[in-house]
Amino acid sequence: MHLGRTTLSKFLIQQLQAEGKSDLAALLVDVAAAVKAISAMTAKGGLADILGSLETQNIQGETQKKLDVLSDQAFINTFKYGGLVAGLASEENDDPITVNDLEKRGPFLAVFDPLDGSSNIDVNVSVGSIFSILEAPKDRDPTLADYLQPGTKQLAAGYAIYGPSTMLVITVGKGTHGFTLDREVGNFVMTHANIQIPVDTSEFAINTSNERFWEPPIHRYVTECKAGKTDIRARDFNMRWIASMVADVHRILMRGGVFMYPKDTKDLSKPGRLRLMYEANPMSFVIEQAGGLGSTGRARVMEVQPDNIHQRVPVILGSRNEVERIEKYHREFDSGEDSKYSSPLFSDRSLYR
Ligand code: AHG
Ligand code: MN
Ligand code: MN
Repeated sequence: MHLGRTTLSKFLIQQLQAEGKSDLAALLVDVAAAVKAISAMTAKGGLADILGSLETQNIQGETQKKLDVLSDQAFINTFKYGGLVAGLASEENDDPITVNDLEKRGPFLAVFDPLDGSSNIDVNVSVGSIFSILEAPKDRDPTLADYLQPGTKQLAAGYAIYGPSTMLVITVGKGTHGFTLDREVGNFVMTHANIQIPVDTSEFAINTSNERFWEPPIHRYVTECKAGKTDIRARDFNMRWIASMVADVHRILMRGGVFMYPKDTKDLSKPGRLRLMYEANPMSFVIEQAGGLGSTGRARVMEVQPDNIHQRVPVILGSRNEVERIEKYHREFDSGEDSKYSSPLFSDRSLYR
């Protein structure tokens, strides 16, 4: 028993009911229910038939893992029959799903990544789920255009992390708050109220195997971090990469750091790896509400106008001073002000582009 502790439901009632937003509170309770179901599935690991891949691919051409599809089903069922959304869209479905039963239709749209960090499922490393809640149009079916709202329009967002403990981290635009699942009781209990990311950090997260595809501003930043005490940063940095955005961002939320999946030239048809609507936007909302920043390097993530549900975007997010520094490096590169990193060494024909 956690005497005097606040459950997720109580917290949501307190934060939202007074503002007449009980529907949003109820929807977040539904999200928590889906998260509990996925948490129970992931915890079974090799004891249940949930590991491994399927023969199918999603719209991004990625082979689906069993748990991708099972988690997607858990969210779809929760949203479709919960009476609180008019439609939903996920990483695993090409097109949005409209709730056809008018009786069961609600005022919101839900966009989500049901299982983030899929490559970690079979090796028993933390994975997560990410969600974003938007307003649905009133009195008519939602169209694709209704989903394509910039991140600044999100009514709520958050993620679940299935790690040693299962946590749900959410924002409704009034701070970022973390809840830990008390498995025996089945409640999410508030354990991390009003999370604040340290503004400075000595930790960065990036997949350095992509180094030769990066743009010069990212090269510059990472090179300086690696030089540590011996260069301009005057302190040593540490590097971490879990390959679950949720787990990397959660670490950064807890102790500071900067997460980067920047624009690269690996596949010129993709302006980044991560998806704007169900990865970058919700994570940026959570991070900004905790005092951090979410940027593409050249713009605020949440101000990017989406033109496609599955659109990709460069992502740089975390501790404020570090993100601002990386944005400055992009500006200096674009304006030609940074002579070293704008030099012919980084021109179109050089090794570094
Ligand atoms: P998903 O499993 O939902 O497709 O997302 C995986 C993403 C993200 O979680 C992670 O940061 C990144 O892909 C890892 O990419 P690399 O395999 O390039 O490290
Ligand atoms: Mn993902
Ligand atoms: Mn996923």
